Amino acid sequence: MRKKYAAGNWKMNKTFEEGQILLSEVVNMVKDEVVNPNVQVVLGVPFPYLSSFSKLIDTPKVALAAQNCHPKESGAYTGEVSVSMLKSAGVKYVIIGHSERREYFNESDEFVAQKVDAILAGGLTPIFCCGETLSQREAGIHFDFVSGQLTNSLFHLSADDLKKVVIAYEPIWAIGTGVTASSAQAQEMHKVLRDHLASKYGQEVAEEISILYGGSVGAGNAQELFSQPDVDGGLVGGASLKSRDFTDISKSFPA
Ligand code: PGA
Repeated sequence: MRKKYAAGNWKMNKTFEEGQILLSEVVNMVKDEVVNPNVQVVLGVPFPYLSSFSKLIDTPKVALAAQNCHPKESGAYTGEVSVSMLKSAGVKYVIIGHSERREYFNESDEFVAQKVDAILAGGLTPIFCCGETLSQREAGIHFDFVSGQLTNSLFHLSADDLKKVVIAYEPIWAIGTGVTASSAQAQEMHKVLRDHLASKYGQEVAEEISILYGGSVGAGNAQELFSQPDVDGGLVGGASLKSRDFTDISKSFPA
């Protein structure tokens, strides 16, 4: 059975103290309430908090993610953070290719592909984000566009390496807007992406890849989204900043 994920993306929110409180609340609630052993909770917190927050997590049910990394191992890249640094701070997952980074920091598919390689080489798990704009969807090119993002950033991988990647489909028009893709729209795209993976790696490999949905996931819609056969969880922005909501989302998987 594919692993299920409730992954929070705090983005650039919360002071250190506020973050400590939120993280402790989530860890305690998840320990008490998330009983499905196939569910992994992941928290993507700001860089400066990673090292100390990793010491606050005392359950394998919760793992830490960074929200970005640089593909180089070390060197003169002022302001950047390498995979080995993240690893040494207790990080297990790295969110890459988020649409906000693609848009505001001009990150290309090729650059994201380099990050995928660096993360896998370091033994961490990439959470690879992809997704179309509203105008691409309205033009009817969304399936090709998102499939192309996978081709460009993942299809150089061996099957063994691909199996270590978590994919997060996040339609840009649904991020932070309160407009969620319907569960049918999410399922439709996830199936297209799984078929696309199968076209290159075969069905057996494609069936092993967890594909998360992101874009205005909340406690009120998670159950419906996560009940879709190809939706293996969520990458959650706004609702991950509220411990009760995020824990409820983590409990929204079919038994
Ligand atoms: P949202 O963000 O849940 O606030 O829409 C999702 C994301 O950007 O990962």
